[in-house]
Amino acid sequence: MLRIKKLFVHHWTTAISMWCSIKTRERDGSEKKSRDAEVERSMENNSGRLGGGRKAQLPPGPPIVPFITAVQWIGKSISDVERTLRHLSSKYGPIISLGMNNSKPLIFITTHDLSYQSLVTRGAIFADRPPAPPASRYLSNDQHTISAAPYGPLRHLLRRNLTFGVLQSSRVNSYAHTRKSVLQNLKNKLKKEAAATGAGGSICVGLHFQYAIFCLLVIICFGDDKLDEKTMGDIEKVQRDLPAYQLQYLRLPEGGRKLSEREIVGLCSELLNAGTDTTATTLEWIMANLVKHQDIQLKLFEEIKGVVQASSKSGSEMTIQVEDIQKMPYLKAVVLEGLRRHPPGHFVLPHAVTEDTMLEGYVVPKDAIVHFMIGEMAMDSKVWDNPMEFKPERFLSSSSNKKNGEIAAALDIAGSRDIKIMPFGAGRRICPGLGLAMLHLEYFVANLVMEFQWACEVGHEVDLSEKQVLTVVMKKPLRARLLLPGVWIMFHE
Ligand code: HEM
Repeated sequence: MLRIKKLFVHHWTTAISMWCSIKTRERDGSEKKSRDAEVERSMENNSGRLGGGRKAQLPPGPPIVPFITAVQWIGKSISDVERTLRHLSSKYGPIISLGMNNSKPLIFITTHDLSYQSLVTRGAIFADRPPAPPASRYLSNDQHTISAAPYGPLRHLLRRNLTFGVLQSSRVNSYAHTRKSVLQNLKNKLKKEAAATGAGGSICVGLHFQYAIFCLLVIICFGDDKLDEKTMGDIEKVQRDLPAYQLQYLRLPEGGRKLSEREIVGLCSELLNAGTDTTATTLEWIMANLVKHQDIQLKLFEEIKGVVQASSKSGSEMTIQVEDIQKMPYLKAVVLEGLRRHPPGHFVLPHAVTEDTMLEGYVVPKDAIVHFMIGEMAMDSKVWDNPMEFKPERFLSSSSNKKNGEIAAALDIAGSRDIKIMPFGAGRRICPGLGLAMLHLEYFVANLVMEFQWACEVGHEVDLSEKQVLTVVMKKPLRARLLLPGVWIMFHE
């Protein structure tokens, strides 16, 4: 387990190393002060565009700040960064460049339209990754993971292997039995802990969610459904012994060589890491909103009840399966609203540009590093009515769009027609785990709402403040009371 943890390479590694370098410098108070002074001076001296020749065509932004990198320049925490960028965007527009001394600019894109134009319309040009900084280079085995590999034959091979070998829907569907047993395990743990706290007691649920999602991904990755604690705890051994999604048979474009054991571990770790925290964090945010908004929870429960009753399930069959989920538009809308309001990452991974290209009348030069602001786009009041509000109804199409008499949850979340939110990114680097993550979220939300009424801790409101760890998590982890009252009891009888 220790080894796997050390080798865990997932898609936030670049971001982590960025924040680590900021934090290190923060410890040195004098450097922080001088940085803050530079920030203020830059704001005051702002002249709209970088000066001189070809640089004049770069997207606008504050003047070059010497000696320090643009990332160190902008702030210290994710919310500071977003606040600063919001301020810059109101001043310079939807595309901003931060000048870096003697190197390519760092470009930030803040709107849906420009994200679509770059990631989809000009997808191939924006699909590269920048060279990894030393720590990420080590962790990603010299960029031999899907998320870190440059856009080219190696990334295509690894991604195709994951998409068709592991995440293919027929394969994912074949895990119905495994999902059920992981769910049962989760429900048992929650019940046991809730019973131990006594009447009115609340329990912390985030770690249980994380463990459940992790178990599912381990099985999907290694094709083994032995779910005892020992197997999970002994994951390092499992990784060595099992065929790890056929990775050992791949021949790399680099001279046809096989992957090394370390590279195989890196790729398995990428899958487990990329899928666990993101999905578990989103699940916690969704359940937190259902605790806060009992009316939404009840409406969802009614939808689930209707589908279950119509399919005449009873007793031990009372697990919502994938086929049932297809009949639950409100459930889909709740999950989409969770991903809009609380995307686990507020930025996609950094993209790099393979050739000079024009965007919004500005040149984005070859090798520029481009960041897309997922969090900002989800809060854009030009696109979303009352964006702070948790309102799943916004994803239900109007009654005139009823399909087969049912209201559908409408959104092209992959962004192939247009982009409204992009919690999974968009275009050629879009998250390959999108389908699996949506399925797991819908499956767990539906089954957990059917099993319990989720209520808040006595005397405490749910606090939706955020904090950046690997993903953007709840600053105060969700504590909930799990009840079986009134309407829930009647349904279960
Ligand atoms: C709620 C759950 C998830 C969210 C919100 C999410 C989000 C993202 C985002 C924003 C990216 C970066 C896209 C870009 O750079 O443009 C990404 C990449 C990636 N994700 Fe996910 N992800 C989730 C779950 C998963 C799962 C379950 C898996 C695997 C089973 C996975 C595997 C990956 C991989 C391998 C990449 C790199 C793709 C590439 O660079 O070509 N993710 N994800």
